[in-house]
Amino acid sequence: MKVLLTGATGLLGGALLDRLVENGHEVRCLVRPESPNAARLDPERVEVAWGDAGGVDDLSRALPGAEAVVHAAGLEYAPPVVAALRRGGVERLVIIGSTSVHSAYEHRSGWRRRMEELVRGSGLRWTIVRPTMIYGSEKDRNVSKLLRFLDRSPVYPMFGPGTNLWQPVYHEDLARGVLAALVRPGAVHQSYDLPGARPLTYLDLVRAAAGALGRKPRIIKLPLEPVRRGLRFAEALRLPLPVASEQVLRLREDKAYPYGKARRELGYSPRTFPEGVALEAARLREIGQVRG
Ligand SMILES: NC(=O)c1ccc[n+]([C@@H]2O[C@H](COP(=O)([O-])OP(=O)(O)OC[C@H]3O[C@@H](n4cnc5c(N)ncnc54)[C@H](OP(=O)(O)O)[C@@H]3O)[C@@H](O)[C@H]2O)c1
Repeated sequence: MKVLLTGATGLLGGALLDRLVENGHEVRCLVRPESPNAARLDPERVEVAWGDAGGVDDLSRALPGAEAVVHAAGLEYAPPVVAALRRGGVERLVIIGSTSVHSAYEHRSGWRRRMEELVRGSGLRWTIVRPTMIYGSEKDRNVSKLLRFLDRSPVYPMFGPGTNLWQPVYHEDLARGVLAALVRPGAVHQSYDLPGARPLTYLDLVRAAAGALGRKPRIIKLPLEPVRRGLRFAEALRLPLPVASEQVLRLREDKAYPYGKARRELGYSPRTFPEGVALEAARLREIGQVRG
C-alpha cells in the first residue's frame, strides 16, 4: 500500500516508518522544512514531501498516489488533515489520538473529544488509535529523562504518594498496533486504546526504571496538596505560571486502560513496563546517555 505518513521524524513515527517499510509498504513522509530531525530519514528508503501538517495545501501536494494516510504528527491537525483527504479523494485515515481523551480534566480531554468527533463525522474510512504515554528510546520526553535523572541522583523526589496508576506503551509495540489498525479491514470506523501490558503505580514505575539501571534511589514523597493550593492562589491572582493547578491534580488521576478490543481485533500484545524500560536503559547505555 502507498502510505503518506506524518510525524515520521518523531518517536512513534520513526518506529512506524520502520514497520511500514519492513512490511513492504511504500512510504512518503510529510516533513516540515524546518524539522531539526529530517536527517533521521533515509531518502534511499522513503520519499520525502516537504510541508506542514497544519496546512491543507501542503498536505494536498503530498497526497497524490497515496492510498492511505497515517497521521502521527498531532491530533490538533485533524481539521486540515480531514480537509486534505476529502479534497484529494483519499478515503483511508489512521489518526493517532491519546488516552487523555478519557481524562476527567477538561483541558486534557475536551479538545481531543472535539477532534475525534470531527474525524468520526468526516465521511472518511477512519481509525482512531489512542496511545498512553509513549516511551522506548532517547527520543521520548518522559522515561528517558527519568532514566537520566535516576542515573545521576541517589534521591528521587515524588509529588504525591505515588499510588496513581500509569500504563506506558513501548514505541515499537504501539507501532505494531497502528500497523494492524491500518491493514485490518475490521478496524475501519473503530477507535482503539493502545496502552502497555499492565498498569503499575508511579512508585513501581520509578522503581522499575531504577532497577533497569541497577540503582535503588531513596524516594522522597512530597505532598501534592500544598503545591496545588499554592498554584490555585497564584491563578486567582492571575500570575503567569509554568503549570496549571489542574495539571498537578492530574498527577492523582489513574491512567490505566483496558485493551481487550485491541487484543481481539488487532492482535495487540504489548510488553510490560519492566521489559520495555530494560530495553530503553540498554539503548541509553549504548549511546552513552546513562552509565548504570
Ligand atoms: N509521546 C507521548 O507520550 C504521547 C502520548 C499519547 C499520544 N501521543 C500522540 O502520538 C503522536 C506521536 O507522538 P510522538 O511522541 O511520537 O511525537 P514526537 O516525538 O514529538 O514527534 C512529533 C512528530 O510530528 C512532527 N510534526 C509536529 N508538528 C508538525 C507539523 N506542523 N507539520 C509536520 N510535522 C509535524 C514532528 O516533526 P519535527 O521533526 O519537525 O519536529 C515529529 O516528526 C502524536 O500525535 C502525539 O500527540 C503521544
